[in-house]
Amino acid sequence: MTDSVLTEINNQILTVRINRPERKNALTHAMYTALGDAIEQADADADIRCILFTGSEECFTAGNDLSDFASGSGLKGAFTETPVGRFLFLLANATKPVVVAVNGPAVGIGTTMLLHCDMVFAGTNARFQMPFASLGLCPEGGSSLLLPSWIGRVRAAELLMLGGAFGADDAYRLGLINRVCDPAGTEAAALEACQRLASQPPAAIRATKKLLSRPTHEELAATMLAEGELFAERLKSPEAAEAFGAFMQKRKPDFSNFK
Ligand code: COA
Repeated sequence: MTDSVLTEINNQILTVRINRPERKNALTHAMYTALGDAIEQADADADIRCILFTGSEECFTAGNDLSDFASGSGLKGAFTETPVGRFLFLLANATKPVVVAVNGPAVGIGTTMLLHCDMVFAGTNARFQMPFASLGLCPEGGSSLLLPSWIGRVRAAELLMLGGAFGADDAYRLGLINRVCDPAGTEAAALEACQRLASQPPAAIRATKKLLSRPTHEELAATMLAEGELFAERLKSPEAAEAFGAFMQKRKPDFSNFK
């Protein structure tokens, strides 16, 4: 149980709010478990027709909690049984449409999870970033497959290797989001899309979602497993230790002596 993920059901829409403002909504193992539980709840409940993921007007999520990363806990055993692996697979296989409202930072999994969602609305203050390599890690969440196929190899390589942040206009241009909003209106725009989805014929929406995912379904699962395995290894690497230490000590990491 965690109060850092809040859920509520209104008008057949399950809203899942990431709520850990003091850590910029960084995701702990308990929060991944709660996010996964929410998707399972939506899949099992015929009265829920759509899921809305959101944070606040200032922040979507700073990605995985870096203290959890540094501790190395949570990635033991089969990847699909870890809190993050379970969440990612549940999201990738969700049967109900998933809409996201992103304001402020959407770091790491905060960006890669969007690749599995059906509609994404982002505020002008949104800052997307996938700094995995910069942290001594590697891509996750199927991003090494989905991102190059959506935006092209060289642009995916730039975002995944250099890990730079990009804003809502760039995300829109790259086809990663549906609409750029005033941050005060992002959630309302996403909610309106949810309401429209909820009023559509539900079986037809589920069939459409399934067909949209079908072409990459098996390759995606294999990629997520391969990424998960490499990611768990990279978490134990000296490069990652340097990156996490630098973040905790609020200094720039120094990779100059690594081979
Ligand atoms: N894990 C754990 N704590 C985090 C965190 C994370 N991913 N992101 C932010 N925090 C903490 C900060 O350490 C800080 O704690 P403090 O108040 O004790 O110093 C607090 O949240 C506020 O963060 P701060 O960096 O001061 O906010 P900001 O608005 O200047 O920057 C971010 C926001 C998201 C750009 C920045 O915090 C960041 O880059 N975070 C790390 C993101 C990351 O690498 N995630 C992993 C992706 S794989």
